Amino acid sequence: MLRRLHPDQPESFAFTAANQQWAEAQITKYPEGRQASAVIPLLWRAQEQEGWLSRPAIESVADMLGMAYIRVLEVASFYFMFQLQPVGTVAHIQVCGTTSCLICGAEDLIAVCKEKIAAKPHELSADGKLSWEEVECLGSCANAPMAQIGKDYYEDLTAESFGKIIDDLAAGKVPVPGPQNGRYAAEPLKGLSSLTEYATDKPEHNASVELAVDLGDTVKRIDGTEVPILTPWLGKDGKAAATKAAPKPPKEREVGKPAAKQAQEATEDKPETLTQARDGKADDLKVLKGVGPKLEEKLNDLGIYHYDQISTWTAGNIAWVDTQLKFKGRIERDGWVEQATSLAAGNED
Ligand code: FES
Repeated sequence: MLRRLHPDQPESFAFTAANQQWAEAQITKYPEGRQASAVIPLLWRAQEQEGWLSRPAIESVADMLGMAYIRVLEVASFYFMFQLQPVGTVAHIQVCGTTSCLICGAEDLIAVCKEKIAAKPHELSADGKLSWEEVECLGSCANAPMAQIGKDYYEDLTAESFGKIIDDLAAGKVPVPGPQNGRYAAEPLKGLSSLTEYATDKPEHNASVELAVDLGDTVKRIDGTEVPILTPWLGKDGKAAATKAAPKPPKEREVGKPAAKQAQEATEDKPETLTQARDGKADDLKVLKGVGPKLEEKLNDLGIYHYDQISTWTAGNIAWVDTQLKFKGRIERDGWVEQATSLAAGNED
């Protein structure tokens, strides 16, 4: 199947404030120069927020990670878990069509999708609420046939029970996930033949279903406010540390303006540079957070040797240096200007 950008694209994309904070915290997990490692989590969060990945979303993630747009598009178009076209506003239904499900009735489920949603996969239903596709084994073969709807599994389906689930979703209800034929989990269809004592004292749902019911986010779009932002890698006081270390949101991308044009405009804000260090003695720029030997060398190559140079940078200057370093947001995120101002004033820390 060809996977390419959808012909109809929105004008722009922006993470919600909470998702932006979450995304910035994810980036801090990776060492300097390896921020591109956060590409899949960020793309996934963008999809959780919007339902699918638009071109502006892909480019926005690329900007956050300092990656070329094509590199992020390569990732988004490679993995089938990323939807490159709009999905149903209520739910996108993924029917497993692999061996176990196929011999247990997956074709009947697909027929239901064609009848109730749209004739072809990845097409929206007439009201735009639902979409569907056939996917490979989802690892729930003992409960075949099954489908993933949003974040949860609906198992032991029949054409009839599946049709009812689709009708309920279209009506704004979220049916309880899990086995739909009365089974508790993946025990034998005829009932337990061992560990039978467990059957007398068990919760209403199996653990997966219970969690799905508790979370209630089966088909919910994720705006980042659902759970606390966990950043254990930032130390014990993860919340406070995240606030301190989190970068400021990047400047809004100028939609439609070619990158080359933006880069050219950025050069107009070149900060004052030197041909060599004053008195032949450059400041140790490596004391700035996020600056290692290589980055210091790059900065020196640009004509930046001293703390007092960095302390005077304006937003335009920062944008120019960002362009040169090919890592947008680093300077603001790590607070170079504030640190350099303090160091230039003679403070050691
Ligand atoms: S074959 Fe359908 S879940 Fe494995």
